[in-house]
Amino acid sequence: MDDDTQVSLGRTHPIHTIEDLLNPSDHTLANCISTRKAMIVVSPTVRRSFGESIDTYLDEHNLRCSVRQIDAPSGESSKTMDQVIQVLEHGADFGLRRRDVIIAVGGGICCDLVGLAATLYRRGVPHVKIPTTLLGIVDAGIGIKNGVNTTFGKNKVGAFRQPEATFIDAMFLETLPKSELLNGIAEIMKMGLVVDRAIFEILRSDGACLIAQRFMPTSAAAKDLINRSIVGMQIELSKDPNETGVLERAVDFGHTFSPLFETASGYRITHGEAVSMDMALSICIANKLQWISDEQRHTVLKTFRALGLRTDCADFSVDQRLEALREATCHRAGALALPLPFGEIGSCRFFMDRATLSPQMLAECDAVLRAYQ
Ligand SMILES: NC(=O)c1ccc[n+]([C@@H]2O[C@H](COP(=O)([O-])OP(=O)(O)OC[C@H]3O[C@@H](n4cnc5c(N)ncnc54)[C@H](O)[C@@H]3O)[C@@H](O)[C@H]2O)c1
Ligand SMILES: [Zn+2]
Repeated sequence: MDDDTQVSLGRTHPIHTIEDLLNPSDHTLANCISTRKAMIVVSPTVRRSFGESIDTYLDEHNLRCSVRQIDAPSGESSKTMDQVIQVLEHGADFGLRRRDVIIAVGGGICCDLVGLAATLYRRGVPHVKIPTTLLGIVDAGIGIKNGVNTTFGKNKVGAFRQPEATFIDAMFLETLPKSELLNGIAEIMKMGLVVDRAIFEILRSDGACLIAQRFMPTSAAAKDLINRSIVGMQIELSKDPNETGVLERAVDFGHTFSPLFETASGYRITHGEAVSMDMALSICIANKLQWISDEQRHTVLKTFRALGLRTDCADFSVDQRLEALREATCHRAGALALPLPFGEIGSCRFFMDRATLSPQMLAECDAVLRAYQ
């Protein structure tokens, strides 16, 4: 085990950073499973890339595991209750008991499905998350929220449940396609714009090179980006882990318009792409409100273009944007609480006055964004 990341604010679960977790000489995962039965849930892609390593590791350590593949043919549209039920049925079939453990090895979708299944199985069994996408590593794999999509919206059914542990191993990223890498970069950018300016500066100076080199998980800049994002996220989440407070969350930056972008596109737009488009629009709004200068807006959007992050949200009408603001207000207990960069890049305030965001202002943002596509 190389490094443990734990913040002192609030209650968080242990997040362990390990290099080469599936190397049989590493005992971290074996010690975690110990004498328990463990059901390991993987997606077909992850099974193809890492199935053999998982099997070898389990054999070498003589562990009582069953590796179950979740059938996720079309990504986001298969993050459904049906998939959760499939995981539950696998658990029953395997004879999983209350003190046993379910382990997700996969992207954010696998982590979400397993987290919810673990909440429901026999009213709750322990679970462990091993995220294998960059988005999973810096976001979906380290929180305590788990959700599935429904006919009435994205992540509209779910549960808060703390994993027993999260294991981070950036070596998984070696097989990740560039488009998926960019989805994770979008969530890292979120942290850079509203939580930790140093993240933005690293992305600005090294981001394009890192992406071209497929993120090179062993490079200092990649490690720094991952560590800073995880610590920043833990600090933000630990302020109100179960979201029972005022619901002013910096990490909601990029997550106000994006749920509508995802659902209205029939999930053809990925979560990371939608978050990028939302952030670009939000940057324009922050500038129109004079919360950031023209120069700051230009610096941010130029960086989006250099990294290949999407900024084009013109396909979504002003009415749809207003609808997204209404929905966000509803989700945030009646307050808009739109997080936006304020003054400095890397710090944030919450904009509360929905009426000020006029249709005209929202439409004018497209003219600005067009220059960066
Ligand atoms: N619960 C939370 O707190 C939280 C936070 C952020 C995002 N999310 C959710 O996460 C989901 C997005 O996650 P995602 O972007 O990881 O998508 P994903 O889980 O669909 O993974 C993307 C694709 O990459 C494949 N893959 C995974 N690891 C791989 C690897 N190492 N090499 C090659 N291919 C690999 C997957 O099989 C999948 O086909 C969304 O549903 C979003 O709502 C949840
Ligand atoms: Zn997100």
